[in-house]
Amino acid sequence: MPLDIVIGTQWGDEGKGRIVDLLAAQADIVARFNGGDNAGHTVTVGNHTFKLHLIPSGIIHPHTVGVLGNGMVINPSSFLSEVEMLQNAGVQVGPDRLRISFAAHLITPAHRAMDLAQETARGSGNLGTTGRGIGPAYTGKVSRNGLRIEDMLNPVTFMKKVQAHVEEVNQILVGLYHTEPLDPRAVAREYTNCAHHIIPYISDTGLLLHQALQNGQRVLAEGAQGTLLDIDHGTYPYVTSSSAVAPAVYTGLGIGITPVDRVVGVTKAFQTRVGSGPFPTEVFGKTAERLRGTGKNPWDEFGTTTGRPRRVGWLDGVLLRYALRVNGVTELMMTKMDVLSGLTTLRLSVGYKAGDEAYQELPLGPANLSPFEPVYEELPGWEEDVTAVRRWTDLPPQARAYVRRIEDYCGVPVRRVSVGPERDQVVDVHN
Ligand code: GDP
Ligand code: IMO
Ligand code: MG
Repeated sequence: MPLDIVIGTQWGDEGKGRIVDLLAAQADIVARFNGGDNAGHTVTVGNHTFKLHLIPSGIIHPHTVGVLGNGMVINPSSFLSEVEMLQNAGVQVGPDRLRISFAAHLITPAHRAMDLAQETARGSGNLGTTGRGIGPAYTGKVSRNGLRIEDMLNPVTFMKKVQAHVEEVNQILVGLYHTEPLDPRAVAREYTNCAHHIIPYISDTGLLLHQALQNGQRVLAEGAQGTLLDIDHGTYPYVTSSSAVAPAVYTGLGIGITPVDRVVGVTKAFQTRVGSGPFPTEVFGKTAERLRGTGKNPWDEFGTTTGRPRRVGWLDGVLLRYALRVNGVTELMMTKMDVLSGLTTLRLSVGYKAGDEAYQELPLGPANLSPFEPVYEELPGWEEDVTAVRRWTDLPPQARAYVRRIEDYCGVPVRRVSVGPERDQVVDVHN
């Protein structure tokens, strides 16, 4: 079956958008299966830098259809602004090229207000969420209290449902968090207006995808966030509220267990994290400034969605190997090799230690990282600018050795490395 999956193997922002854009040249449908507008996927094409939050990154290729699957939580005004942004940039998007699952859940201003109130109440122990209402929207879904996209189809009941939802959340906002209530009627009016614009996009996307796969069309599933932010397999509780791993494609798109061609894991050549939580290979000072950049380049390590500076560190081989295992990754794509140019020595974590005990695998998964310290292997860096390299053999030998060591350590081939954000800044790895 022609299904490929792209997922993040770290804490998000690995460059999934850029890799999906590459692979979408061969895809008919590109489908998001998790998350919402907490995601920020950047695609650079010539002078255009597209920052996509909800719409699948494949949409820049005019031949593709984009699907927003049932596993997503959707802020309808973010969706409509993104459609407008694309149209203004000359990308023709409309209901003919974009479908939203009837079973996806809605994010409302009440969810966003709850997200902010909960974060404030957590004080110094906050999770550093994106403030997009993701946690409360998924909470509503799981507690069977949520609003689904299909609710928009009936304007009368929809208005009542939205109003009742805001009234209920207001009780918590005011009673528990002592914040200002929202105006239920105003939110209900805003959402009923929005519904008119959303309705043409609503579809049975599970059926659409099933039929496409049956007919031999190529489907590319685009993960948001990353394995270490996954609700089950990440650094809980410092995670997002959705399933961000490859197996979630099936529940998040409603396609049943379908044989998959490739599970493509995207990893940066180093490690980053935005928000709170453990980060064993984190670095500070001069090396951190070097890896993060100043914010001058569009790819410098500042959040696509929130603009926050990302925490940076050395590639964590132990966590990468773990991510490959829980996703069933068949091949890796490594981004941002160019950013490592100029570092004299690179470090790669190949184990952890706690006291005198050494560990090759995490004894209890990534949520319990605090007792452990990484064990590093050092590899020589390279001086050369690699942004113009297009052939594997033209990469500096140290860069090739770094890739080979990661392949050896993880037991999964690195198929491509990228050396810049542009479509052509990519090098196929030779075996
Ligand atoms: P995503 O959330 O996984 O899609 O990643 P983001 O878009 O949030 O962050 C990745 C950033 O790195 C974006 O600005 C990309 O344009 C940029 N990028 C991707 N690959 C490369 C690369 O190989 N080199 C450089 N310099 N930038 C890259
Ligand atoms: P993409 O798809 C990086 C992080 C937030 C926070 C935690 C919970 O661009 O890789 P949430 O708002 O989801 O409740 O926040 O998850 N986070 C991301 N970090 N990239 C993302 O998406 C993220 N989406 C959520 O910073 O630590
Ligand atoms: Mg991102």
